[in-house]
Amino acid sequence: MSSSMEEVVETLPQHTCSWLKGKITMHKYQDFWTSKQLLVGGILAQQSFKAEPSDVLLCSAPKTGTTWLKSLAFAIVTREKYDESATPLLTKLVHECVPFLERQVEEIEGNRKNSSLPLVATHLPYASLPNSVAASNCKIVYIYRNIKDVIVSNYHFRREAMKLSMEDAPFEEAFEEFCQGISSYGPYWDHILGYWKASLETPERILFLKYEDLKRKPTSNVKRLAEFIGHPFSVNEEKAGVVDNIIKLCSFENLSNLEVNKTGKPEGGSLENRLYYRKAEDGDWKNYFTDEMKEKIDKLTDEKLGHTGLVL
Ligand code: A3P
Repeated sequence: MSSSMEEVVETLPQHTCSWLKGKITMHKYQDFWTSKQLLVGGILAQQSFKAEPSDVLLCSAPKTGTTWLKSLAFAIVTREKYDESATPLLTKLVHECVPFLERQVEEIEGNRKNSSLPLVATHLPYASLPNSVAASNCKIVYIYRNIKDVIVSNYHFRREAMKLSMEDAPFEEAFEEFCQGISSYGPYWDHILGYWKASLETPERILFLKYEDLKRKPTSNVKRLAEFIGHPFSVNEEKAGVVDNIIKLCSFENLSNLEVNKTGKPEGGSLENRLYYRKAEDGDWKNYFTDEMKEKIDKLTDEKLGHTGLVL
C-alpha cells in the first residue's frame, strides 16, 4: 500500500469487532464499513477500473447469495464454451472463475485483451462504484437476501474465518454490531437502498434479484438473468433442458458436495472454500434470534426500507 493511501486509511473512523476477539478492525469510508485490505482494494478499483459497456457487474453485500449469482452468471455466459462435464465450476471455487473487483482490479485490466468473460463481482455500495461504471452504462445485477438470514450467515462466516467457536464468538454481540450498521460493506440497509434507488432511475441498467425468489422460482429468474446479461436462452436450448441443467449445476446441493468446495482452498488464499457453502436454508435465523432480536431488526428494517416495498 502506498504511504499516502495508508495515511488516508488511518484517519478513517475505526471499529474493532469485540465478538471476534479483536481479530478484525473495520474502517468507515464513504459511509460504509469494511476491512483495511478490502478498502484499499476498493479505493484502487475506484482509481483504476475502466468499465466497458459490455461488462456485467455482479453486485451484492456479503452473504446475500454472491457465490450463487456468480455461479449462475458464469454458467450462463460460458455455456457454449464448456460442456457440462468440463465447466471450471466443477474443479474450481467460483470466486476463482469470476474476478472480484476489490482484490483483482489490476488483473482485470491486464487481462482485458485476452479475456472474453464480461463478469466482474464487487461488494462496493452503489455510490462508491468507480465512476467508469455509470459512464460506461454497463449492466449491473444486484442480489439481496432476507436480513435475518444474512446476519446469521455473516456471523458463521466471519467466526469460522477467524477460527472461533460459537462459545468464543457471542451471537448477541455480532447481532448488535450488525444493527449498528457495522457489517462488512454495511449498513446493509443502505447497501440495498443505494442500488434500489439507482434501479428505479435506470431500470434497463440494473437487475434486482432476491435470493429467496431465485430459490422459489429458479427457472423464470435464471431466464431473466440470462436475458438481462445479453445471453438469452433460445427456444431450442429451453427444449433441450439447458436452463434446468444450469440450475442443477449451480444448485447448493451440487456445488457444496464437490470435492473442491468441500476440501479446497484457493492458491495463496487463507479461507477454505467450504466457508462459502454452509446451509443455504431460508429461515435459519429462527434458530438464533430471540423475540426481542426479531422485533428490533424488523423495526429497523421497516424504518429504513419500509417505503421501498422491498420485503426483507
Ligand atoms: P448460509 O450461510 O445461510 O448457508 P455469499 O455467497 O454472498 O457469501 O453468501 C453465502 C450464502 O449463500 C451462504 O448462506 C451459503 O450457504 C449460500 N450459498 C452458497 N452457494 C449457494 C447456492 N449455490 N445456492 C444457494 N445458496 C448458496
